[in-house]
Amino acid sequence: MVKIAFSSPFAAKQPCKDAEALVAEKDPEVATHGSENSTGRCLLTLLGLAFILAGLIVGGACIYKYFMPRHKYEGKMSYMELSEHSEEPYYLPVTEEADIREDDNVAFINVPVPNFEEGDSASIVHDFDRLLTAYLDLALQKCYVINLNTSVVMPPRNLMDLFMKLASGTYLPQTYLVREELVVTERIDDVSELGIFIYQHCLGKETYRLQRRDQIIGLQKRSAEKCIKIQHFANTYVTDTRICE
Ligand SMILES: *[C@@H]1O[C@H](CO)[C@@H](O)[C@H](O)[C@H]1NC(C)=O
Repeated sequence: MVKIAFSSPFAAKQPCKDAEALVAEKDPEVATHGSENSTGRCLLTLLGLAFILAGLIVGGACIYKYFMPRHKYEGKMSYMELSEHSEEPYYLPVTEEADIREDDNVAFINVPVPNFEEGDSASIVHDFDRLLTAYLDLALQKCYVINLNTSVVMPPRNLMDLFMKLASGTYLPQTYLVREELVVTERIDDVSELGIFIYQHCLGKETYRLQRRDQIIGLQKRSAEKCIKIQHFANTYVTDTRICE
């Protein structure tokens, strides 16, 4: 294909006609023979160029989408907690990093281990197409999946605006804490049904489905429950998510 492309390198408007004319001047006999040849070659050249161009465009788009470093947003909010040991209320910071992909309708949120509170580090996916949230507990390497709560998790565009406000410092990041308690209801064996992003996130990890405790009718709180805690935000307040097995 490359060789064909070179047969009319960056010629003017009508490279094919020019080539024919050149041959015609030299020898009329060769010209009739050569004109078929050059028309064919010319078509191949154009086809080749079209392929190369299409390849460049598609390739460029792919490189842009998948290989360019993504912009990660860092955000920090703090909420007030009353101390057991002192009269003074104090502020606890919650930091997280977000990778928001608006065109895929998905947000990835990384929560490091908190400095001043107990809690687990986690990696969270909010998939707005599948309407699912997956919490990957990084210490336990377990994945927990629940329906996305659209009244708590801001859509990607608004989430991006929130993180930009947090980063610019024009937004006062002192907020409040909302607690929620989620309970494991069943194990999910086939994570491929959860959409590509959660699939990639939870593949090879023990994965469980969750439900809000206040939506389970008649469930007694068992004393032997093991719970983990993840503090994160996807809105203007911090959510304290307890996940119990
Ligand atoms: C979403 O979250 C809010 C606040 O935590 C809660 O009141 C509501 O029941 C949740 N909705 C669903 C569908 O889980």
